[in-house]
Order: sequence, then structure tokens, then C-alpha cells
Amino acid sequence: MRQPLIAGNWKMNGTRASAEALMRAVVEGVSGTVGKAEVALCVPFVFLELGERLLAGSAVHLGAQNVCSEPGGAYTGEIAATMLKEFGCRYVICGHSERREYYGETDELIAKKLVRVTESGMRPILCVGETLEQREQGFTQTVVASQIDAIIAANGIESFAQMEIAYEPVWAIGTGRTATPEQAQEVQSFIRARLAEHDKVIAEKIRILYGGSMKAGNAAELLAMPDIDGGLVGGASLVAEEFLAICRAGDASV
Ligand code: 13P
Repeated sequence: MRQPLIAGNWKMNGTRASAEALMRAVVEGVSGTVGKAEVALCVPFVFLELGERLLAGSAVHLGAQNVCSEPGGAYTGEIAATMLKEFGCRYVICGHSERREYYGETDELIAKKLVRVTESGMRPILCVGETLEQREQGFTQTVVASQIDAIIAANGIESFAQMEIAYEPVWAIGTGRTATPEQAQEVQSFIRARLAEHDKVIAEKIRILYGGSMKAGNAAELLAMPDIDGGLVGGASLVAEEFLAICRAGDASV
């Protein structure tokens, strides 16, 4: 049985005050009601120190949303994996579709980021997913397979033993349009089967999260699917009660 992971991706949202209030509310809510699912908050870099302090000793893990592909040095504006580790991060989102689309991140660059994260003792959450156009043209599996295969080719199948995957159909992100549980399950079981062609044990163990307008209202039915092992939650993670309801759905899915 894979322990569900519910991870909030705050993206570029919040103020110091709202970040503090949200962290406090999630810590408090999780301590009372959640236990079986693992919970994490992936916050903007500037709130990591706050997160390190406020999440310390709680059941809520800290995560970042991006990392530099290089270990350190003259890379103005970048943040190294070792820095994230120092601030108590356990997870780092890599290859989010917003990074692929707006910042030109390629599979090759993402593969390097994954190495930086794991060699620093953290776990990447590797995001994959197709655009609406690709889905409508029938290319969903081709696109997702090529994103996964690129990482296998660069880093080896063993690297998947140290990471999580998030399937995030681009057309469902921030649109309010969620993949149906069946649509998500179909792609997520495809991802697992793709990995199993290389290593059955790793494929069976890896957690594959779903991301794309996961909310309190649809989390339970998504998490009930056999290959959906958690959620990477954007908008709904910015509202404590909404996020906590998803965490409870994660608990109930065990
Ligand atoms: P939304 O939940 O806002 O659709 O965002 C999903 C996402 O991109 C999580 O990484």
C-alpha cells in the first residue's frame, strides 16, 4: 500500500502574513484530524524560512517549487538544492508545466534538477502531462511517455526509487476543469506500466499524484482510483479548510 501524499503547490501567491496564517492553520488542522496521508506545502522560496520554523515538529513537510540545475556558483537569481535542504525542505517540484511552458524548461534540464535534488537528500516531485491540443489529437500517452522516457534515459530507472511523479494535465491546471477519475487513472496506470517495463518493484512503489483542479469536492473520487496516490494541489491549497478537506480525503483513501 502506498501512503498517499497531499502536497500543496502555492505557486507565486501569498504575503508574509497570509503565508504564516495558512501554515499555522494547516499545522493545526493536520494535527487534529490527519494521520494516514502525508502532507506537504511547497511554498515560494522567500517563505521557506517561515516554513522551517512553523512546520517544525509538525506532521507537515516543507517543499520548494523549483531548483537550479547546477550545484552552485555564478548563477544569478538561482537557488541551489543544498540551500533548500538547509532550510528543511523534503520535497522539490521539478518540471512543472508552468516552468516548461513559461521558462522553457526541457526534459534535459529537468533531469539535471532531479539529480541535484536527490543528491542533496530531498525528493523531487516530477511533473508530467499533456496540453489540451495534444490530448485532442490523441497524443496524451506519447507526450507523457516521452517525458518519462527522457528521465529514464538521462538518470536511469533507479532514480525513480527516490522521487514522486505528479500527472498534471495542462488543460486541468487552474481551469476548474478536472480530469475525470477515469481519465486520470488511465494515464497514471499507463505511467506505472511504462516504468514497470524497466523495473517492476520501482513501478509498484512509486507514488503518482494527480494535479489539476483537485478540490475538496472531487478529491475523494480521484484518490479512490488505484493508481492515484495523492494530489498536487494548486488553488485549493491556498484555502486552509479546502486543503485540509483534501488531506482528510487522503486519509480516508487508505
Ligand atoms: P490547480 O489545482 O490550481 O489546478 O493547480 C494544479 C497544479 O498545477 C499543481 O501543481
